[in-house]
This record gives sequence, structure tokens and C-alpha cells, in this order.
Amino acid sequence: MKAEDTELLKEFAPTQVDKLNKIISKHKGKPGSLIPVLEEAQVCLEYLPISVQKKIAKELNLPLSRVYGVVTFYSFFTMTPRGKHTVRVCLGTACYVRGGKAITETLQKEFGVMEGETTPDRMFTLESVRCLGACGLGPVVVVDEDVHGRVKPTKVKEILAQYK
Ligand code: FES
Repeated sequence: MKAEDTELLKEFAPTQVDKLNKIISKHKGKPGSLIPVLEEAQVCLEYLPISVQKKIAKELNLPLSRVYGVVTFYSFFTMTPRGKHTVRVCLGTACYVRGGKAITETLQKEFGVMEGETTPDRMFTLESVRCLGACGLGPVVVVDEDVHGRVKPTKVKEILAQYK
């Protein structure tokens, strides 16, 4: 086992580390391999922390700065674990004045996460958006693909309880 794999095993299961090694071997030495490796690695590991980026950089013989640059450039890649569900609170003007801010504050208080963060149980990632084009329904909260309109801060917990 390689030293950097020992590091990865602190965060990922042995099967995931094995799979990452297979992904790297499949693409290694081929031109333009970085993005396909990162894409497949993210599907397998769900996120790409620095430990994973270091491993990929070493194996593909690239500077870490190059790998880091790509991961931070494309919004598809994430360096932090994402929740099973994504909760987006609309903070566009219409939703904001109708209570969007209060909803965000309630979520932050109830779940102990700030915008962009994921709950420790990895159930929810909290994000905000600027207008979803459904202003008449404001304040709007979107959980995954489900749009919840006229949400009251007191109902937020109840809504999220539907998501397991
Ligand atoms: S401001 Fe929220 S949907 Fe338009």
C-alpha cells in the first residue's frame, strides 16, 4: 500500500480507495486524463479533498496546483462532502422580503450549518439562490428538484423531515 493511500483511508473506505486506484490506472499516461479522472473520482468518493488531489497529482505526474486549479474552476467539482439532499433557499429580492432570510437563519440554527455547508450526518447541504423565477410563490425553498412555496420558517423542519 502506498503512503498516500494510508492517508486516504482515514477518510474513505478501502473499496473506494481501490476504485480510485483503478480509475487512475485506466487513464494514466493518456493525454487529457485529468478531468476524466477527477469526474470518475468524484462519483466514487463524492468529493475531492486535498488528500485526493495530492494522490491524483502524484499519479498523473502533475503539479498539485494544476489539479487544485481544475477542481476549483468547475462548479461540478466539490472539495467538501455533499449531503444526500440539497436545500436551496431563494434569496432573490421577492423571496428575501417575504421571509427568505428568516428561513435561512432557521435552517442555520436548526441544523448548525452555514451556507455551502453540509450537516454532520451528510443529509443536507444548504445553499442559496437568487430568484428561481417563481417569485409569486415566495419565499421559495427547493429541496433537490422539489419546489416548496410560501414557506414559513416554522415549517422548514417539517418539510425537511420528509426527506430521508
Ligand atoms: S425571488 Fe425567489 S423566486 Fe424570484
